[in-house]
Amino acid sequence: MSQMSQPPKQLKLAFFASGNGSNLQAILDACASSELDMSPQVVISNNSKAYALTRGQLAGIGSHHFSSKTHPHNLDQTILNTLLEHSVDLIVLVGYMKKLGDEILERFRGRVLNIHPALLPEFGGHGMYGLKVHQAVVAAGATHSGATVHLVDSEYDTGPILSQARIPLSSGETPESLAAKVLALEHRLLVETLQKIASGELELEGLKT
Ligand code: GRF
Repeated sequence: MSQMSQPPKQLKLAFFASGNGSNLQAILDACASSELDMSPQVVISNNSKAYALTRGQLAGIGSHHFSSKTHPHNLDQTILNTLLEHSVDLIVLVGYMKKLGDEILERFRGRVLNIHPALLPEFGGHGMYGLKVHQAVVAAGATHSGATVHLVDSEYDTGPILSQARIPLSSGETPESLAAKVLALEHRLLVETLQKIASGELELEGLKT
């Protein structure tokens, strides 16, 4: 008798965001349209006013404001419990302005992704976020910029790079114009990279148990 083959497991996603959440929205939309074969579960934000939380609510997934103010004594444990309750496979940092706690990083080693709005290893590190990144790129006279998806370690923007997308700077490029172009690039790169993970084209050691 032939054995029925199991369909591949749909990976469950958690998101950490501190702000608008346009990258989160790109992923939610891609999952809703089946362009991306993953299952969004929960959004966690350190910022109660983050629009990312509203995006999570509108998508019907768990949406939590957890911070050192809401949970002064047990923030990391509360976050970890939430991830475990949702049986999260993969964490995506989409504009999260805090570091994840050591225990969370340990439990999810090799399963935490971040999107950065430049071509790492240049223009990354502590304090390099938002418009500051694009200001630095323009000030350096770079000919290209882009977006990077990388695995997260205990430092800022230093983990192994999974994928990058490049664009040339136009003459007269401003940090603001570059930011808009890179953000659109980020949305595509993030969804494409996640779909490569979903299909097995990109293998993450951390997902092999
Ligand atoms: C993006 O530029 C991302 O690269 C960085 O934070 C920003 C978040 O933007 N890590 P949004 O909230 O997804 O619009």
